[in-house]
Amino acid sequence: MFMERLQKVISNAGYCSRRKAEELILKGKVFVNGNLVKELGVKVSNDDIIVVEGVTLNKKSNKEYYLLNKPRGVICSVKDEKGRKVVTDLIDTSERIYPVGRLDYDTTGVLLLTNDGDFVNILMHPSNEIEKTYLAVIEGIMTTEEIYKLKEGIIIDGEKIVPKRVKVKKKELNKNKEKVEITIVEGKNHIVKKLFKAVGHPVAKLTRERLAFLDVKGLQSGEYRLLTSSEVKRLKQLKKK
Ligand code: URA
Repeated sequence: MFMERLQKVISNAGYCSRRKAEELILKGKVFVNGNLVKELGVKVSNDDIIVVEGVTLNKKSNKEYYLLNKPRGVICSVKDEKGRKVVTDLIDTSERIYPVGRLDYDTTGVLLLTNDGDFVNILMHPSNEIEKTYLAVIEGIMTTEEIYKLKEGIIIDGEKIVPKRVKVKKKELNKNKEKVEITIVEGKNHIVKKLFKAVGHPVAKLTRERLAFLDVKGLQSGEYRLLTSSEVKRLKQLKKK
């Protein structure tokens, strides 16, 4: 069961700020499952009933939003016929959450998981142009012409993909590899690998560094956290009218 600090749950529910929630706890204004909690540091789960100043926290939605730093070697799905590890195995929840979009088995980095279908639609719908930034280690060193070709756009499966940004971060001449950051709005399967392959440089390693304004700062590989209510709100606001 995923546990969070009481003051964080109170503020995430929109009742008040985290600091104010701490004050209320210390003043003896908070009950968890009917028991008075007067010290900080208590953790609660989604099933706990929290009453603050006589008000039961609004639990009308049990929508959950997680940000996972996806490790390599995990399938981006809710189950696998061959019994391999899937991303939902890494998250401790009783809700039926699923990944927002796909990262390949060997891709690491930012992955959102939720049980909120509308939220998924907003993030996945191409018209909302949600930016995804990847760091790719590619085989070989791109020529100026190849970089130009990539920036101008490549036809992949009949659709022209024009990256928002392409930036060479580091040339590893001794290894004959190059680190390139690429930002795209498309969410098609294997899209980054296909783009680099199309200019003659297969991807050796791929990490999603950012999705919109989210990154995995502070999360080790395989670690996750809940999105804050303001992060969820900001992501929902990315929906174009
Ligand atoms: N593009 C890819 O090629 N692979 C991923 O995992 C994500 C984007």
